[in-house]
Parts: sequence; structure tokens; C-alpha cells
Amino acid sequence: MTHPELVIESSPGLQGVATLSGAKNAVLVIMASLILTGGKNTLYNVPFSHDVLQMIALLESLGAHIKMSRETKTLFIDTSSILSCAVSADIMKKMRASILVMGPLLARFNKAAIALPGGCRLGDRPIDMHLHAFAQMGAEIALEGHYLYAQAKKLHARKFILAYPSVGATENIMMAATLVDGKTTIVNAAIEPEVLDLIAVLKKMGADISLFPAGVIEIVGVKELHPVSHTIIMDRLEAGTLLLAAAVTGGQIALPEGPGHSLEVFLEKLVEMGHIVDVGFDGIGIYFKATQSPRAVSFKTMPYPGFPTDLQAPMMVAQCLADGTSTITETVFENRMLHVQELQKMGAHIQLNGLVAQVKGVDMLFGATLIAPDIRASAALLIAGLAAQGTSTLTGIHHLLRGYNDLSGSLRNLGARITMKTELI
Ligand code: EPZ
Repeated sequence: MTHPELVIESSPGLQGVATLSGAKNAVLVIMASLILTGGKNTLYNVPFSHDVLQMIALLESLGAHIKMSRETKTLFIDTSSILSCAVSADIMKKMRASILVMGPLLARFNKAAIALPGGCRLGDRPIDMHLHAFAQMGAEIALEGHYLYAQAKKLHARKFILAYPSVGATENIMMAATLVDGKTTIVNAAIEPEVLDLIAVLKKMGADISLFPAGVIEIVGVKELHPVSHTIIMDRLEAGTLLLAAAVTGGQIALPEGPGHSLEVFLEKLVEMGHIVDVGFDGIGIYFKATQSPRAVSFKTMPYPGFPTDLQAPMMVAQCLADGTSTITETVFENRMLHVQELQKMGAHIQLNGLVAQVKGVDMLFGATLIAPDIRASAALLIAGLAAQGTSTLTGIHHLLRGYNDLSGSLRNLGARITMKTELI
């Protein structure tokens, strides 16, 4: 069995222009939403990360016919041939986004049989809000072993007041409601850019969806939805990760496609650190120059437009090498500090108290043998290796491959010293 690992050398300040891939957290839910159309759909700017390949396998297991072109980053997804509503455990356990087929299956077929989803170990990551909402819409849901069986004679429209603006629950309720008679309302809905990209796709399909201020979404059911073509938005999280790689190595990079308009709180924190950040006039394009004496900043992760939880780990690396002490509070996931112990191996001074990390900046991190515990932590450890003195090795890189199209390649193009080593074990 091969055991791939990355060898990461201390790298000079990253320099150059980087392109971005389509957003993972948009493309996965949009692929699931195509179940609603029962026709031939085309997606452009698709990132061919492992999670996308997994979602392709899931849709094919339902009967969809899919063709992909890596060179043109295009997916052709024909869902007219979907006959099954059952997703096996070995597919479901590989990623959290698998749960997002439940809403479309219930809407189109009034039933779904799926195994409990898997994904990053960020806590127990319940799906209670999803299931409770489907039950409130009239679905009968039974858990038998690892399988959830849901079916409904007819789903009903209703008003949901979410206790927490869950991204997945907002997406699943919205997709389920598109074909349900009447008006479904979601109060305290998630409004992440990836959710808005899903809304754009559903409206292209013919769904009647309105987004109001302060996170209220209204969906009025229609009789049917038709196939679409859509270009996936750029990945703001990949953009943030590349910027932080430039920050920790003292570099200067340009992201001409960078979605500056959907990273404002994060970019403001980089400016607070003393880095130079310019954004294009329409919010597109991010131009970055690192300061050589970064100041530590504190932050708390929040639902959009707050500081994104998916940039917490990479941003922590920048605080490890900044002047001063940073207080980092994770409020979204109850177990998203697994990267702390790995950074401590590199000489980082981090005191962790539950979900609050006190990071005292040091002059230098040192190369170490690192184990990636989840997608965003793997990116954080990768960029930490670039800034560290000496050489690091990073295993568990399947997380990196799950979440990014080719982050290592993008970094190498900017001067990062990263090589892949495959050990036979
Ligand atoms: C989506 O996860 C993203 N994943 C996550 O990205 C992202 O971090 C997260 O939204 C927040 O922005 C995809 O889009 C595929 P949530 P999701 O429902 O939908 C709790 C990455 O690295 N909760 O907003 O799972 C949950 O446990 C991944 O790209 C319930 O308690 O996020 C968490 O603590 C990681 N019950 C909080 O809400 C539920 O039924 C936020 O979860 C649902 C969620």
C-alpha cells in the first residue's frame, strides 16, 4: 500500500500570480441539487478534488450519467436516469456533504435511504437540524442501524426559525422546498457565498427563491425544475490559504480572480497585522504584500460574514510567527483545534483552553513530522512547513486532496519547496 506524504522545505517569500479553483463548498451542494432537474446539466470551473470525485460516485450510484473534462474543468451531469434513492454506507461515510442529497431526493421522489454521513472529525457534527426540518415538512424518518430511511406522502411548506445558521441545514431545507406547494420560510438562514451560489443555480432551474436582509430566505414551490448550466464561484477559502502562505513566508502575490468581496473580515485582519492588501474595484482581485514585522491579531470564528472557521487553522499559523499574543476563539465547530498539537511540535507557543487558543508569537518554527487531522488543518500545516526552519513531512494528505484541487501545485508555482514522497509500507 502506498503511503503518500509531502516533504516541505523552508521556502523563500512566495512571489507571483496564482489562479484559483471553483469553490469546494459550492460545487458539492450544487452537484447534489441537480437531482432536482431530472435532465442534462453542465457545470463549469469545477475543482476536481477528491470530494468532487466522491460526489460523482454518489450521483452515479443513484443512476446519474456523468462525464468530466479535467482540462476544461467541466462536468456534464445527466440526472434524468436517476432511479434509486438509496446511498450506500461506503459512499456516505467519506464526506459530510453526502447528506446534501437528502433534500433533493425527498423533493423529487418523496423518499431517501442514506447511511449516516462521514467527513472531517470536527466534532460529532450532528444532522439533527436537517432531520428535524424534514420531519416538520411531513417526512417520516427512521434510523435503522447506520441507515436513515425517509419518506413522505407529500412534503408541506412551513416556516423554519433556525437556532443556528447552519449551512447544510439551510441548503437541504431550501432544496427540499423548491417543489413543495406553498411558501417555505427560513429565518436565521446561512448566507455564506456558497449558499448564495446554490440559490443562483436553483433560480436558474426555475425555483422561486427570495433572499431578504438578515438571513431570511423564502421559497415558493413550483411544479418542476429544468436543467442548467452554471459556472461555480471561485474558492474564497483557497484564496485565503494562498494569502496566508505568502504572509508567513514574507512574500508578495496576486490573485486576479480573488473574491475579495467575500473575504472582507479576513482581509481586514491581514491589514491589522500590517500586511498590504489591495482589492479590485468591483471586489474581484486581491493583491498582497507581506510585512516583515507582522503584529499578532485576535479573532473569533463566526458564521458569514464573520471570520470564516475554514481559515482559522491557517490564520493561527500566521499568529504563531507574529509579534505579540493572539486570542483565537473557535465558535462554529466543537473540535476544530486538532492542528494545535501539530504546531506545538514545530515550536509554536500555544495555550489551548477548550476552544480558545492563546498564541504567543515566536521568531521561528522548526520543521517536524506532522499529521494532518482534517482538511483545513492540513493546509495550515503545509504553510507552516514553508515558513519553518528546516524540513517537515506531512502525512494524512488525503485531507488536502479532499478539500483542494491542487494546493501544493499552486504553492509550488509561487516558489514553495514541496515534494510528494510515496513510501511503500
Ligand atoms: C459547511 O459544513 C462546510 N462544508 C464546512 O466546510 C464549513 O466549515 C461549515 O459549513 C461552516 O461554514 C460544506 O459545505 C461541505 P454547519 P456544515 O451546518 O454544513 C452544527 C471545510 O473544511 N450543526 O453550518 O456541516 C455543526 O455541528 C468544511 O470545507 C448541528 O448541530 O456546517 C457545527 O458545529 C468543514 N446540527 C455548526 O452547526 C445540524 O444539523 C455549523 O455547522 C447541523 C449543524
